[in-house]
Amino acid sequence: MDNLSEYILEVKDVSKEFPGVKALDHVSLKVKKGEIHAFVGENGAGKSTLMKILNGNYKKDGGSILFDGKEVDIKSPVEARELGISIIFQELNLVPALSVAENMFMGRLIKNKFGFVDWNSVYSRADQLLKRIGYPMDSRILVEGSVWPKSRWWRLQRPFPTRIQS
Ligand SMILES: Nc1ncnc2c1ncn2[C@@H]1O[C@H](COP(=O)(O)OP(=O)(O)OP(=O)(O)O)[C@@H](O)[C@H]1O
Ligand SMILES: [Mg+2]
Repeated sequence: MDNLSEYILEVKDVSKEFPGVKALDHVSLKVKKGEIHAFVGENGAGKSTLMKILNGNYKKDGGSILFDGKEVDIKSPVEARELGISIIFQELNLVPALSVAENMFMGRLIKNKFGFVDWNSVYSRADQLLKRIGYPMDSRILVEGSVWPKSRWWRLQRPFPTRIQS
């Protein structure tokens, strides 16, 4: 019998239909903690659709998703992130008019106890993370004004932890 917590993620019989297209037809998948999986399939096979369901962008038509042994209903990317699911889209979509830090913490800016954005924490955490990935820079600068090589910006798309352990 499966030990529930052995799997961080279980997708069971998930289906999704778009008008005229069955994108996912009873798809199942089990991922153990620490495992890395690759999805390979032809264009239109449904890879992105499954990822978007896991990220809360799309609602599944049927089936279930268990995260760390518990059934979850992921209704939005914010809920996905709260569970610990982050997605890095292949298209580079940074917002040039915002700072590097704002791009890194988009949708999850660190707030103080009054619910206001704690900019000092946002910038200092962003600076720390940039240093950690080997690109120390001032996270206050705007993406558009930066001379950072374009090819390196993909790193900002990583699912950065909101909290830093260590
Ligand atoms: N928002 C949508 N509205 C309608 N049809 C969609 C939508 N998203 C995906 N589809 C359709 O669902 C099917 C699966 O698409 P999906 O993007 O998941 O495939 P994929 O495996 O990621 O393909 P690719 O390798 O091209 O990225 C395709 O037939 C696609 O046209
Ligand atoms: Mg795709």
